[in-house]
Amino acid sequence: MTGTASDDSPDIHAISVEVDGVVEKSAVSSRTLLVHWLRDELDKRGPKIGCDTGNCGACTIRWDGMLVKSCMVLAAQADGTTVETAGGLADADGPLTTLQARFRDYHALQCGYCTSGMLMTATDLLESGEEITEHSVRRAIKGNLCRCTGYQGIVNAVRAAAGQDVPLPHGKSPDSHGSDIEAGAQ
Ligand code: FES
Ligand code: FES
Repeated sequence: MTGTASDDSPDIHAISVEVDGVVEKSAVSSRTLLVHWLRDELDKRGPKIGCDTGNCGACTIRWDGMLVKSCMVLAAQADGTTVETAGGLADADGPLTTLQARFRDYHALQCGYCTSGMLMTATDLLESGEEITEHSVRRAIKGNLCRCTGYQGIVNAVRAAAGQDVPLPHGKSPDSHGSDIEAGAQ
């Protein structure tokens, strides 16, 4: 949080932020939201803009290890910090994470607009060490709105990613369950 205003343009701040493992340097306006900087300047399309008011969770990222809605953070505030987006969960050419694969298997997405935020929230829950139950998953994702799935598929996917035995949706072959997943990845 040490953004430095340039001499000739006090509204512009030089920032250096580690985003998905890469240090990104930039000059941003005092009013630029982190989600806009990530999407418009870095082309990070994981965080989505749903409401711009902190209500929908589509823009959820981890900021220095803490779940935040990136529409509620100024880009200038992110100077010297670390940002994780859904795009950085799996390697670009690597397999899906276990959680991503379970989202696929359990039909945890339809339009996909909420999915990046859901994945960030659920990843954080899985890594937290908290006991994974139907209740704990529903509590964790209460700040992430989904208009398509009815949530049950998302809850099932997170529980399955935690290793719980959750029946696959009707008609799904058990053979597809985890066939291309890197063991232990989340
Ligand atoms: S766009 Fe950030 S919470 Fe909706
Ligand atoms: S899958 Fe459409 S909003 Fe969640």
